[in-house]
Amino acid sequence: MVVSLYVQSSMDKFEKLYTLADVAVHNTANDCWLSIDGKVYDVTKFLEEHPGGDEVLLSATGKDATDDFEDVGHSSSARNMMQDYYVGDVDPASFPSKPTFTPAKQPTYNPDKSSEFLIKILQFLVPLAILGLAVAVRYLTKNDSIST
Ligand code: HEM
Repeated sequence: MVVSLYVQSSMDKFEKLYTLADVAVHNTANDCWLSIDGKVYDVTKFLEEHPGGDEVLLSATGKDATDDFEDVGHSSSARNMMQDYYVGDVDPASFPSKPTFTPAKQPTYNPDKSSEFLIKILQFLVPLAILGLAVAVRYLTKNDSIST
């Protein structure tokens, strides 16, 4: 079904608005349309001339071919050529909605303040206890040496 709505395109012509399904039916060597970056191109006459071959263009039909086109890294002259084949725009509403990213739920961090406090106390008490023990041993051994 062709949506009979006309839009002012960036290429300054009034062109048709097609759904992705409209574009997808033109998928043969005798009738080949591409959807690239929201625009529709009829590349039927270009198939034979395309330096990348006709197969790649035919394999890019029936879907949004923007990524395929960009992945090749087409030159600016290739991009200029595109306007010769431009026939309209893709109805944005016909694009499949992109899945929204929802981050995985992190377990909530619940700092246990009481154990933190206990560690701090121990950090202070343990060296103090060792010191006290050392003083006691020293004191006792001193007394022993005096008595003998
Ligand atoms: C209207 C649409 C397109 C036009 C006007 C076009 C034009 C061109 C041109 C002029 C080149 C020569 C290299 C350059 O100048 O960048 C080229 C190469 C190529 N194109 Fe396209 N192209 C189109 C769409 C596509 C799509 C949709 C694909 C992929 C599915 C594709 C795949 C390739 C490949 C594989 C090469 C060969 C690259 C190489 O050998 O280095 N083209 N195209």
